[in-house]
Amino acid sequence: MKKNVKNNVSWVGKVDWELKNFHGHEYSTHKGSSYNSYLIQEEKTVLIDTVWKPFDKQFIKDLSEEIDLKKIDYIVANHAEIDHSGALPELMKLIPDTPIYCTTRGVKSLKGHYHQNWNFKTIKTGDTLDIGNGKQLIFIEAPMLHWPDSMFCYLTVDNILFSNDAFGQHYATEHLFNDLVDQGELFTEAIKYYANILTPFSPLVIKKIKEFVSLDLPLDIICTSHGVIWRDNPMQIAERYLQWADNYQENQITIIYDTMWNGTKRMAEKISEGIQKVNSGITIKLYHISISDKNDIITEVFKSKAVLVGSPTINKGVLSSITGIMEEIRGLSFKNKKAAAFGTYGWSGESVTMITKLLEDAHFELMTDGIKAEWNPNDNAVRECILYGEKIGKILA
Ligand code: FEO
Repeated sequence: MKKNVKNNVSWVGKVDWELKNFHGHEYSTHKGSSYNSYLIQEEKTVLIDTVWKPFDKQFIKDLSEEIDLKKIDYIVANHAEIDHSGALPELMKLIPDTPIYCTTRGVKSLKGHYHQNWNFKTIKTGDTLDIGNGKQLIFIEAPMLHWPDSMFCYLTVDNILFSNDAFGQHYATEHLFNDLVDQGELFTEAIKYYANILTPFSPLVIKKIKEFVSLDLPLDIICTSHGVIWRDNPMQIAERYLQWADNYQENQITIIYDTMWNGTKRMAEKISEGIQKVNSGITIKLYHISISDKNDIITEVFKSKAVLVGSPTINKGVLSSITGIMEEIRGLSFKNKKAAAFGTYGWSGESVTMITKLLEDAHFELMTDGIKAEWNPNDNAVRECILYGEKIGKILA
């Protein structure tokens, strides 16, 4: 269903309330998502991005009820990933000669996905496209936000930035705009999206926002490709991004563990008790990794100034859930965070050494040596865990 954004700009995307996982099963989407496509109808008609492939036919049907598809003069592909380009193959069957504006890397990615020689028009930052009625689209390349091909475009006179994935959230809503939704839900999804997708590119986020601000273009609206459109104080999300990109942390420690017979769980709880005894101001969150959502844990790690990671020893190593989450954490390149390891063992006892190595490989600063407990922690081991927690709590005070 077409919804007006401003003047002759409309949203023509798809809200996906049923989506529970994105990027295959890599990212949990508890609140669904949307694939935002936009239609500009000036003297020229422009379609900005499309929707994910499962919705291609519905998208084309809905769009063709609004306009004669042959009237689309230009398509802008801000990003080649399938959730935004997925309807192009079906659309281009109907309007095969329509020019597609994208970056040089966008051509490479689109050809890589669809193996078609569509009528590509490559752009560079600063290039413009006249769309009539005195309005232009200005293109701004945004490489690695979050793919090499990513770009923004800006509509003059209406003062709209089409930012694609940047500033998005996986958040289904029937209300288009940021001022019409629950702010707690909105920012929960926005920070999860940043933590899980954009963290590795934080230096580029800062650079791109500063570059956009230096262009001194008036900004009324940011149209993202997922979730709400920012029309109420649109710079608020850019300001949040500048904070999140600057080694963001709150006064929080996150304790991640896996456990087989609850010994490592008991260690986690007793270390937490020790932290609380000496540092009552710090937020402590405990997650049993095997029964928790990994993307939610990543968000908590993003917010933390320190993490503790624990596993029992099994087969001279750690439980595979721990290597899984540590690989996610390594890949996200978190900066300026402290860490330590803990775990139970019966005989060989390699888990703490192995977790410590994983933490170092992920560039955490080790606060202290890890702590081990033999078998099910006895009273003495429990006291040691509390003392260990006190030590951590004092370091983080
Ligand atoms: Fe929403 Fe990178 O695709």
